[in-house]
Amino acid sequence: MTPVAAPGSDLAGRVALVTGAGQGVGAGVAAELAAAGAAVAVNDLQADRAERVAADLRAEGGTARAAVGDVTDFAAVQHLVDEVTDRLGPVDVLVNNAGIPAGFTLRRFRDMPVEDWDKFVRLNLYGVLHCTKATVDGMCARGWGRVVTVSSEAGRMGLPSGVSLYGASKAAAIGFSRHLALELVGTGVTVNCVALGLMTTGPDDHRKPPWPTARLGEPTDVAAAVRYLASPSAAWVTGQVLGVNGGAVTL
Ligand SMILES: NC(=O)c1ccc[n+]([C@@H]2O[C@H](COP(=O)([O-])OP(=O)(O)OC[C@H]3O[C@@H](n4cnc5c(N)ncnc54)[C@H](O)[C@@H]3O)[C@@H](O)[C@H]2O)c1
Repeated sequence: MTPVAAPGSDLAGRVALVTGAGQGVGAGVAAELAAAGAAVAVNDLQADRAERVAADLRAEGGTARAAVGDVTDFAAVQHLVDEVTDRLGPVDVLVNNAGIPAGFTLRRFRDMPVEDWDKFVRLNLYGVLHCTKATVDGMCARGWGRVVTVSSEAGRMGLPSGVSLYGASKAAAIGFSRHLALELVGTGVTVNCVALGLMTTGPDDHRKPPWPTARLGEPTDVAAAVRYLASPSAAWVTGQVLGVNGGAVTL
């Protein structure tokens, strides 16, 4: 994964935990933060994915370790944060990227069984709460920290495409982040979200969307935005939602 920016040091000495970073957007964010000088803990539910991305980052000269675990399980999150702290140091930058969930298909609310709701809320809201809870006290105690949550434009607008529970859970994480940001003013810890438009699924994805840029998002598009929000330069940006969507939504 090639970072979007030249290697720099705006996060030198910092430790970043990126959840769901075994592929896609999270892997791109992990590469960008490593290029910015952070030691990166690559979380994923699937160990092989996390190990592969961490090995790639080390091969490119970065400092990285796999941090395998399920963000929907608070005990597992506490355990992996303890491991990251032992091996890389305390987490300064948390990127809540794990989301969707696996096996997601478009389905209108009226067609969705009640028992399917929980998996959206557990991953897209509780996953964010668990990881934030496990890291934010340490950030506050050290007087510096960044929490960046990867959300979706489906969390800011209505769509007829069968994403109601997904959008509701992504909106919930945005609402939580806005409140936490203001609770933490004065601690040195900022809390922000990026709201993504439709992302590419890979090189064979040739969909041409109707919005101004007429292309799907790439992990590098998101990585650059997260790097900024994680950087010392973004100290005065908190409680915000940055749209990274190719102009598909203008708010
Ligand atoms: N793909 C899109 O079009 C799109 C659009 C808007 C927002 N987003 C958001 O961007 C983020 C990344 O999306 P992506 O397309 O790269 O997803 P992806 O499915 O390609 O990758 C997600 C990774 O998270 C891991 N994961 C899933 N559940 C987990 C759990 N409980 N604990 C730890 N890891 C877990 C998966 O194993 C996978 O490797 C998500 O939050 C998603 O909601 C994606």
